[in-house]
Amino acid sequence: MPVVAFANPKGGAGKTTSALLLATELAGKGAAVTIIDADPERWISQWAKLPGKPAKVTIVGDVTEDSVVDAIEAAEQASQFVIVDLEGTASLMVSNAIGMSDLVVIPIQGSSMDAKGGAKTIRLIRNQEKMTKRPILHAVLLTRTSAAITSRALRNVETQLQAGGVEIFNTTIVERAAFRDLFDYGGTLSDLNASKVSNLDKAIQNAREFAGEVVAKLKAAAAARKAA
Ligand SMILES: Nc1ncnc2c1ncn2[C@@H]1O[C@H](COP(=O)(O)OP(=O)(O)O)[C@@H](O)[C@H]1O
Ligand SMILES: [Mg+2]
Repeated sequence: MPVVAFANPKGGAGKTTSALLLATELAGKGAAVTIIDADPERWISQWAKLPGKPAKVTIVGDVTEDSVVDAIEAAEQASQFVIVDLEGTASLMVSNAIGMSDLVVIPIQGSSMDAKGGAKTIRLIRNQEKMTKRPILHAVLLTRTSAAITSRALRNVETQLQAGGVEIFNTTIVERAAFRDLFDYGGTLSDLNASKVSNLDKAIQNAREFAGEVVAKLKAAAAARKAA
């Protein structure tokens, strides 16, 4: 079953946030999801201890660079989707997880000019493609974008990525209080209190669109593999 890893050596890029959004969205649709929490901060493991974790979501923590490949393989047998939240460094663990992935999502903070971490991740993926002799589907996810304006910095990042032939998600993850609250209150977006969280409906819509695009990319890749 498909493995989706979130990678960018830059901390604060939105890996953990977008990984949890994808996991809870897929679980909400009825899929069994395993999250491999390989982020040393263990945000997702902590989230899982709060009330409201969907029964369809299983968390696997305590993975090391030696165990990550086996952990992913075991999770593939057990669930419909495996989501890997990676650490903010370029390590052997990250390379191993990328080598096992069907899709690598590269979150890049759209509001900053810093796309260097993303470029590093793309080089890592291209090396893994050579080593494993197979293409590894990957796309940049612009995160923490403004709902109101498209900044020059964001357009600049987009232009650079397109020039480098890098795929970009149509959906961006907007800066929303709801996405932070998830880690404070636990559960899923739809468990949050709409009267206390501004624009909760828009946050829910945003997460849904992102998950929809992930599923569409995985389906297209599976169809292409079948045709080959
Ligand atoms: N779309 C978003 N809206 C609001 N806050 C966000 C968003 N994405 C990330 N954050 C916040 O930014 C910080 C870093 O995000 P995180 O997902 O942990 O990044 P990473 O895993 O790449 O280090 C966290 O405090 C998180 O709550
Ligand atoms: Mg993280």
